[in-house]
Amino acid sequence: MTIKEQLIVSLDFPDIQQARSLMHLLSDDVIFYKIGLQMYLKYGSSIVEEWKKAGKKVFLDLKLSDIPNTVSSALLSLQPLEVDMVNMHALSGMNCMKVAAETIQSHMPNTRLIAVTVLTSLDENELTAIGITNSPQRQVETLCRLAFQAGLSGVVSSAWEAPQVKSICGPTFITVCPGIRRSSDQTNDQIRIMTPQKAILNGADYLVVGRPILQSNDPKQAAISILKDIEMAHNRGNS
Ligand code: C5P
Repeated sequence: MTIKEQLIVSLDFPDIQQARSLMHLLSDDVIFYKIGLQMYLKYGSSIVEEWKKAGKKVFLDLKLSDIPNTVSSALLSLQPLEVDMVNMHALSGMNCMKVAAETIQSHMPNTRLIAVTVLTSLDENELTAIGITNSPQRQVETLCRLAFQAGLSGVVSSAWEAPQVKSICGPTFITVCPGIRRSSDQTNDQIRIMTPQKAILNGADYLVVGRPILQSNDPKQAAISILKDIEMAHNRGNS
């Protein structure tokens, strides 16, 4: 995997023109984009097709969660789009993840199915309030083990849990990490945040970045500075 592929820019915009302008501005520096509910619900398959046609990789962040048959059927509906990555909630359960993984392996072998473990906006108090008494870290450990056993390709977690995920599931099990903030960035609603460099050193394979790039006065420079941080982490890791 190249350094550029490790940065996934999140297209969290209300309007497709803003997303197009960003893709144009970032040009060859960014090749991987995340299309989430905001854009997909408004523009549907056409936005994914447009990004793929432009030669970009697409992570379709739909966070699917339902009974096994419904999740599997939803994934089959995405087959023609040939997305590079798609996700579901690990809290949908082991059986649901197994059925979903089988669907992906049989019909969409080039798509990686990733499980959302604990949202990076949730801390221990938030988990307790919804009846989960595990710490975020413990909960990620439990859910990544299930996702691995079910045959998924990796998980979404904060970069804080990436070392545990790698030690439980092995080095080839992918860690996709949002909640990435440089020291100069605003935290926004994210709680379990980490800098790009530290996240890579911690074992994150992909960094999902939204507002630090989207809301920057100079989005291209922001993306380049994050790519440099990724490169520095690799250099530090190799030295
Ligand atoms: O703007 P920011 O960098 O916080 O964007 C993070 C992106 O990652 C958002 O699109 C959000 O939906 C997504 N995400 C997340 N936490 C997860 C999974 C996805 O923040 N656990």
